[in-house]
Amino acid sequence: MSSVVPVYGSTFDGPDGQEDMPYLLTPGPLTTSRGVKLAMLADWGSRDIEFRNVIADIRRDLLQIANAGEAYECVLMQGSGTFAIEAALASLTPRGRNPKTLVVMNGAYGQRAAKILDCIGGRAYETINMGDSMAPTALDVTRVLSQNPKIEFVFVVHCETTSGIINPIEDIVAVCKEMGKTVMVDAMSSFGAVPLDMDASDMDIMVSSSNKCIEGVPGFAYVLVKRTLLEASAGKSHSVVLDLHDQWQSMEANGQFRFTPPTHALVAFHEALREFRAEGGLGARQQRYQTNKDVLVGGMRKMGFETLLSDEVSGPIIQTFLTPDDANFKFDQFYEALRLRGFAIYPGKLTTRPSFRIGTIGKLDQNVMRAVLAAIRDVLKEMGVRNLKPAK
Ligand SMILES: Cc1ncc(COP(=O)(O)O)c(C=O)c1O
Repeated sequence: MSSVVPVYGSTFDGPDGQEDMPYLLTPGPLTTSRGVKLAMLADWGSRDIEFRNVIADIRRDLLQIANAGEAYECVLMQGSGTFAIEAALASLTPRGRNPKTLVVMNGAYGQRAAKILDCIGGRAYETINMGDSMAPTALDVTRVLSQNPKIEFVFVVHCETTSGIINPIEDIVAVCKEMGKTVMVDAMSSFGAVPLDMDASDMDIMVSSSNKCIEGVPGFAYVLVKRTLLEASAGKSHSVVLDLHDQWQSMEANGQFRFTPPTHALVAFHEALREFRAEGGLGARQQRYQTNKDVLVGGMRKMGFETLLSDEVSGPIIQTFLTPDDANFKFDQFYEALRLRGFAIYPGKLTTRPSFRIGTIGKLDQNVMRAVLAAIRDVLKEMGVRNLKPAK
């Protein structure tokens, strides 16, 4: 059998090594610690008490990180983040022509929520569309809610990973709650690294997944939601597998998933949560990612690259760089040359300007950022790229 590992050029050994695979400078799946990988070297019985305790610990810890008190429940759902978004939208948004939902969009993930509502059908919605590099404000939301009193439910993304922008969810949630609305926050790429306080803000629903800032592996996602909303959601889902109420009822009844759980991903996440606490919790994680961002963005600007966003609005999750206007810069070549040096970056997703992204989350530190900067300098030289200014 041929080996798949030692083909990468990087001799750089970062915080935990990366098993001779490239560091994943992406918004997930991302680089995880060796401890998280090792936790998967066992086959757990999904009905056994030890495994049910793992599920119970995860549900409790997630509620704690979100400061979601007695009024909230945590429901785990198999699949990627979008599965939990669809499950929550299907079970919790109003049905029929009235009342309606408001989908606040400033990138691909707001658009995806609208697409999900279209696909489920029978759920009317309005939108606010800010394009893909501007944040919606609380005022934008207030205006639309005032014009459309029939809107009862608001969907908004915390970190819009399309650009990396952090939306002002505290302000947006505050105005929605003042106006008596139910608010769902897609905090997929930010939860665990950008503060969010469900109790203090009275946020109704929050969704994230296993392979983001808690630094687990892909396999499941989670919905933190007020119990009263869950109780009222029986029979509302269009789907058997995505029925949030049913999934919750099963977890409450016997501590198990209804259908085959991603056992390895769950025990890996359990270890990831232990490491999260050992590192110092959300504050420490936010600080590490912020340092990653500062080192990366500082180094890229020094070379001549320009970022899409200003430092005030770009979060510590993922950074968008504008593609250089140099005929020798070809993204696919740039990507592959970096990958062979041990760093997998991420293509751009903007609709308006050519760009690429570099993630700053995962088991990465400032030494990894310095190493990727050195690799980028090397690759640009090899490609003969001189002009790093973007096209106007
Ligand atoms: C903000 C946001 N929402 C939703 C998703 C969808 O998650 P998934 O790709 O795990 O389905 C992502 C993925 O990165 C995301 O960043």
